[in-house]
Amino acid sequence: MLRPEQNSFLTLTAPGTPMGALFRRYWFPALLAGELPEPDCPPVRVQLLSERLIAFRDTAGRLGLIDEFCAHRRVSLWFGRNEEGGLRCAYHGWKYDTAGQCIDLPSEPESNGFRRQTKLIAYPLIERGGVLWTYMGPPEHQPEPPEFEFAMVPPEQTYTSKRLQYCNWLQAMEGGIDSSHVSWLHRDALRSDPLMKGSRGNDYNMNDTAPRFETADHPGGLFIGARRDAGEGQYYWRITPWCMPSFTMIPPRGDHPVHGHFWIPIDDENCWAWSFDYHPLRALTAAELAAMRDGKGIHTRNIPGTFIPEANRANDYLMDRGGQKAGRTYSGVAGIAMQDASLQESMGPIVDRSRERLVSTDNGIIMARQRLLRAARALAEDGTPPPGTDPASQRVRSAALVLPGDAAFVSAAREALTVRPGVAHASV
Ligand code: FES
Ligand SMILES: [Fe+2]
Repeated sequence: MLRPEQNSFLTLTAPGTPMGALFRRYWFPALLAGELPEPDCPPVRVQLLSERLIAFRDTAGRLGLIDEFCAHRRVSLWFGRNEEGGLRCAYHGWKYDTAGQCIDLPSEPESNGFRRQTKLIAYPLIERGGVLWTYMGPPEHQPEPPEFEFAMVPPEQTYTSKRLQYCNWLQAMEGGIDSSHVSWLHRDALRSDPLMKGSRGNDYNMNDTAPRFETADHPGGLFIGARRDAGEGQYYWRITPWCMPSFTMIPPRGDHPVHGHFWIPIDDENCWAWSFDYHPLRALTAAELAAMRDGKGIHTRNIPGTFIPEANRANDYLMDRGGQKAGRTYSGVAGIAMQDASLQESMGPIVDRSRERLVSTDNGIIMARQRLLRAARALAEDGTPPPGTDPASQRVRSAALVLPGDAAFVSAAREALTVRPGVAHASV
């Protein structure tokens, strides 16, 4: 439970908010690389942390993420012409480069210096792992580029999608670290989804629906361990890393690719759900890629030309009451991603956390909130740099493994929770 003022503190990320300042100290995904496929391609509107921006790739292939609105009279540069090394406003022809600098101001003589002084807000945009990442914080604090494993493996080993979710980023992220819902909401997927089914772990998952949760700190976030009975005095552990502020990784199943999410605020009431799948050792198979593109696993089938899922709030997520009754899906909503999104959106744009009743399976959520509160407060009060902005803190893995009954999960699984190039992830 959170007091209303704590809830606002944790959820709001516009410029000038403490949580917004925290987010702005990390690299995070802004666009899929495929959204800016080639030099001089159409610019793309993108809203992040309540800031309206425009992304473009110039003639030389350089990437830019700048204020959406022209410095002259604030029309949207989405209507601009992306040509000859910059984006030219369609209204009176002012032109900007990828750093936001005005490079042509046809109506003023160059001698008055006005053009040189005209510069839009601009943030770095870099490509890594099929994703365009941005850093929206103070330039002097810009960390090294991110090194999450999914973005570092060869391209044939990784696949990323994104979808629009109509709620605040925090309640979406809290779903990502709440693995106790899997045995309920997603139980059909464990049996039938091509990217999930057939692992021994699924049986442990289904046979014990009252997991015990333990959490442990790592420098950049938490490891959240869910313990289920595996018989013969052993436990099946599913361990989810959470990296500040909003990266989560789902424990693997068998030899399936490993998946996870980023939850990135668009504004206070909407977020991007980024979903990746990768295998640390091998290329994704054609069948796996086809399933991902078809919205299986944690991905969605989106309305063509948009990132809005086909099943969405406007059509009640294509609720199938017959399927719910017959047990084809537990909730009546098809697919893991929309099973999650439908319930998270049903909580309202920003859930009132003063009215919740948390229990022991919510330990991961409680601990993550505390870490975020502490870090945002320390940054706001005396500029303490937040943890986990460095690539070393990002080299974590999720794990699913059977451990002896008396083992402490973090020490017993330490190696498995660290990226080891050339070594498979720990999975049963
Ligand atoms: S509004 Fe852009 S050039 Fe005038
Ligand atoms: Fe889920």
